[in-house]
Amino acid sequence: MSVDREVRPGTFPEFDPDDRSSNPSGNRPFRDVLAARVSRRDVLRGGTVVAAASFLGAAGVLGQAGQAVAAPSPTSGRRRPLLGFPPVPTSSADALTVPDGYVAQVLIPWGTPIRSSGPAWRKDASNTAAEQARQIGMHHDGMHFFPLGHGRTGNRRGLLVLNHEYTDRTILYADGDAVMTQEKVNKALAAHGVSVVAIALVDGSWQRVDSRFNRRITGTTPMRFSGPVRASHPALQANNPPMGTLNNCSHGVTPWGTYLACEENWNGYFGTEDSSWEPTPEQARYGVSAAGFDYRWHLVDPRFDVAVNPNELNRFGWMTEIDPFKPNSRPVKRTALGRIKHESATFTESRGRVVVYSGDDQDGDYLYKYVSSAPWRRLRAQGKSPLDHGTLYVARFDDDGTGRWLPLRFGTGPLTAANGWQDQADVLLRTRLAADAVGATPLDRPEWVAVHPNNDVYVTLTNGTSGPTPVNPRDPNPYGHIIRWREQSGDNTATTFAWDIFVLAGDPAYDPSVQLDEEDIFGSPDGLWFDPDGRLWIQTDISNSSQNLASRGYDRIANNQMLAANPATRDIRRFLVGPRGCEITGVITTPDQRTMFINVQHPGEATTAWGTPTPENPRAVSNWPDFDPAGRPRSATVVIRKRDGGVIGT
Ligand code: FEO
Ligand code: CA
Ligand code: CA
Ligand code: CA
Repeated sequence: MSVDREVRPGTFPEFDPDDRSSNPSGNRPFRDVLAARVSRRDVLRGGTVVAAASFLGAAGVLGQAGQAVAAPSPTSGRRRPLLGFPPVPTSSADALTVPDGYVAQVLIPWGTPIRSSGPAWRKDASNTAAEQARQIGMHHDGMHFFPLGHGRTGNRRGLLVLNHEYTDRTILYADGDAVMTQEKVNKALAAHGVSVVAIALVDGSWQRVDSRFNRRITGTTPMRFSGPVRASHPALQANNPPMGTLNNCSHGVTPWGTYLACEENWNGYFGTEDSSWEPTPEQARYGVSAAGFDYRWHLVDPRFDVAVNPNELNRFGWMTEIDPFKPNSRPVKRTALGRIKHESATFTESRGRVVVYSGDDQDGDYLYKYVSSAPWRRLRAQGKSPLDHGTLYVARFDDDGTGRWLPLRFGTGPLTAANGWQDQADVLLRTRLAADAVGATPLDRPEWVAVHPNNDVYVTLTNGTSGPTPVNPRDPNPYGHIIRWREQSGDNTATTFAWDIFVLAGDPAYDPSVQLDEEDIFGSPDGLWFDPDGRLWIQTDISNSSQNLASRGYDRIANNQMLAANPATRDIRRFLVGPRGCEITGVITTPDQRTMFINVQHPGEATTAWGTPTPENPRAVSNWPDFDPAGRPRSATVVIRKRDGGVIGT
């Protein structure tokens, strides 16, 4: 692709978001809403404060929000700073950098045996599919730490549960993927899914340890279906049993201690050589195509041939609930939460009910929320899953700084039999089309959602270009932004809210509307998490066709990174920079906040700036973390600690 066009400040070259829109609904894009609310002069004056008036004004109406400025130290009782670390400069080095005073340690890279008796990783990628199924998968993403034990014990030992989003075909196979075989499909399937692995702090460093909980869930693990789309539903009858979870990007954690793996770009695994095959309107709305994402699994495995086995598609796009403490339990796809390209499943509670926020990460798609029908404890006491009984909503953002959650409920609004909707299962199987019908607001690729301790909710819009809108200075929007909203009366089950732009990401050298200082510049925010003190952690996923490139306005931002923000002051500070070709994703701490875990995903992937790895030289872009002259780059978890043993971020 062309990368050599001249870039003038304030303009962008041809822009290539990871996902092109597949939304033909004509619903009014969020950029139009922004344009209507914000004059260009206001934007140029200060992009980060453009929408603040209505949001802060609403605070008086909706109730005063708590302001996160500092948190009491659990040990001293003194206030501790939200952002106390020295900022890390941008970097294009093939290295992981943390602030002075911090140390980073690599843990469970791709291929690590999940038990000490397991097959060792082979640096020439010659491990078999059967061996891969007993090793940590590839491309670590969403992640949670479940303490094993209470108090101090739980800060030193726990279950790390993490997603493996996808596979890099050049790195995964010793001879690349020019020739596709069933063994290669099997190895890729075994490298996907989720890992559950016990870890412990031993002699000052974190290590994988054996436990009865350690297991892999892959693209072939047997699955259950629950909620309105039952396993017996005709749309779920395929040529193979229900199995596997794929493209697990971000995640969620339930208050009852289970883990949700979201299924994001599942459409890309399917394809066909049948030239007479054409996608149905519904399949097209989900981006299903004959070529898929060029995985070419369908060439050898008819499970992934959309012309041969079309209903297999309907088994993906869900949230998969996994109980890490029941190693023999079968994961469950919770259909009441909808079928989209789920990115994150962020839980909060209000009036005893669970509220689950999720983005549908595609250019021009929507933001969703699920609310259980009753307090979750009551439902569970009745033997019911709170994730099977509830209402799914989609967000509409209005011009005046308010918004509304629109229910996706059969029989409500346009979702009637007269309009061709059969029942609630039909609404959920075709969630995107139902959201189109009710008038949801298209957004620039909603990714992670984070809930502040004061119940305000934030979402990353990683980047996008959902249509020409001349008045919008962020069209296209290659840098992304973060928006936030406050639900009516601070009740996260409410159906109305007030919203605001938290920050426009980018580099002011290319876009004068960006109000970030040199030490804060970043782009394409993706991972987002509030720690218990109210520190907002922001992780970036600049696409590899833009990373490090002046022609994309991304040379000064350089490698992907993680930053921390004070939501009250909007101070943002860079905390970490990753190696070449990676994204930074996944973030959690131990309960005492003195150990942080993050993931470095796809280091060494082909990038326009650094080149393309080959089977002969898989190290063309990066050789992180091993730097073995005969090895290859590996996704890995990174453990970050403060040298003085303090809380991360202070
Ligand atoms: Fe897998 Fe939307 O990032
Ligand atoms: Ca992501
Ligand atoms: Ca990515
Ligand atoms: Ca992403």
